Amino acid sequence: MNHVNQPVSRSAVVVGAQWGDEGKGKITDFLTSKYNVVVRFQGGHNAGHTVWVDGRKSVTHLIPSGVLRDGVMSVIGHGVVVDPRQFKKEVENLRSLGLKIDASNLMVSLQAPVITAYHQALDHARETKSSQRIGTTGRGIGPAYEDKTSRRGIRVSDLFDRDVLTKRLERSASEKNALLKHYGVAQIDLAEEVQQLYDFGQFLKPFAGDAYSYLHQAESGGKKILFEGAQGLLLDLDYGTYPFVTSSFTHGLYASIGAGGALPQYRFGVVKSYITRVGEGPMPTEIGGPLEEHLRQLGGEFGATTGRARRCGWLDLPLLRYSIRFSGLTGLILTKSDVLAQLDEVYICQEYEFEGHAVQEAFPGMDLQNARPKLLKLGALKSKEQIEDYIGLIEKSVGIPVVIHSFGVDRNALDVRRPDFFSG
Ligand code: IMP
Repeated sequence: MNHVNQPVSRSAVVVGAQWGDEGKGKITDFLTSKYNVVVRFQGGHNAGHTVWVDGRKSVTHLIPSGVLRDGVMSVIGHGVVVDPRQFKKEVENLRSLGLKIDASNLMVSLQAPVITAYHQALDHARETKSSQRIGTTGRGIGPAYEDKTSRRGIRVSDLFDRDVLTKRLERSASEKNALLKHYGVAQIDLAEEVQQLYDFGQFLKPFAGDAYSYLHQAESGGKKILFEGAQGLLLDLDYGTYPFVTSSFTHGLYASIGAGGALPQYRFGVVKSYITRVGEGPMPTEIGGPLEEHLRQLGGEFGATTGRARRCGWLDLPLLRYSIRFSGLTGLILTKSDVLAQLDEVYICQEYEFEGHAVQEAFPGMDLQNARPKLLKLGALKSKEQIEDYIGLIEKSVGIPVVIHSFGVDRNALDVRRPDFFSG
């Protein structure tokens, strides 16, 4: 692909525009019918995409949801941290649902960093033994990215040679064990770890390939690519609510960095009709009390990955405006309005009062702890017209269209409001 003449592709990226859990699973499942290739470009098995296939619930954490569709190629790019144990588990689980998963429809980048038992142990130790909790998913995501950045990590390509694997793991074993000792947890047995990683690597080997070149060739051959984000924009390492963020770049434009391919032309942000958060960190519109619990139950707001109760709040427009701006979103996909429709009154946050001023749009490093949300009372959103007004208000407030509206878990409870965003 010639980047000078053709800097933007026909591809699309879909990311969560809040703190994750916006209902992306159903949306990417729908969108995969319109694309040939589905690609993960960041994060790891901290994600949890719930989709329903023939009345059966299925959750994928690491593997792109493209595998659920015949004829779609799924790719795990080098920006993703791969746990080979989890990879095997998910492939076997999906196969047990009757799905065909092999190298013809799933590829893992040879360059992807590997999550080891040590990373999981350290993530878990920090969350349970330290006073500075982030509320991570405990999957070893952060420590694996730390090793990547400090150039001590191992990559998928290292898994296939026992000697290389031993050498790479030996390099940093003493340092890692010193850290585990600091937290008073059991050290990792090197020989056992090498054996396990090698064995899981053998399972993964047929799927491993040069994902970057595959994507460029697919694009040149006219294939349409969908990049599937994990977590949410407000968990981005650079732009999110640091330090309560994940360790990867959830920014939509990272797609081209974390996997390959030209900049996606369409950039969709999935927005829940209200807002939720798991883990620690400020959340200006958090509701609190019995109403929050009521909304949590109505929306089934419990983590797909960890089962944790999600904190619930009203739709926060200052945060949404910020997400749209920093990641250059071109369209929104609104989900779960059917949940709001069950409440007798609904609120929306138009702006904050912050340090004596009205603030309409959040900004990097803003102390959200001290942002006082100004809530607008909307009453009930029970009828179609009332929901339509709500969507109109959002569009007017943030300046980009709601291109899809999803109003239930069913595959059919979905309205494509702007087909022009999906043609061509
Ligand atoms: P980590 O990604 O496991 O390191 O967790 C860091 C933060 O991101 C924590 O607040 C997690 O709850 C949050 N997080 C990670 N993955 C997801 C997700 O898929 N949905 C929502 N929050 C997530």
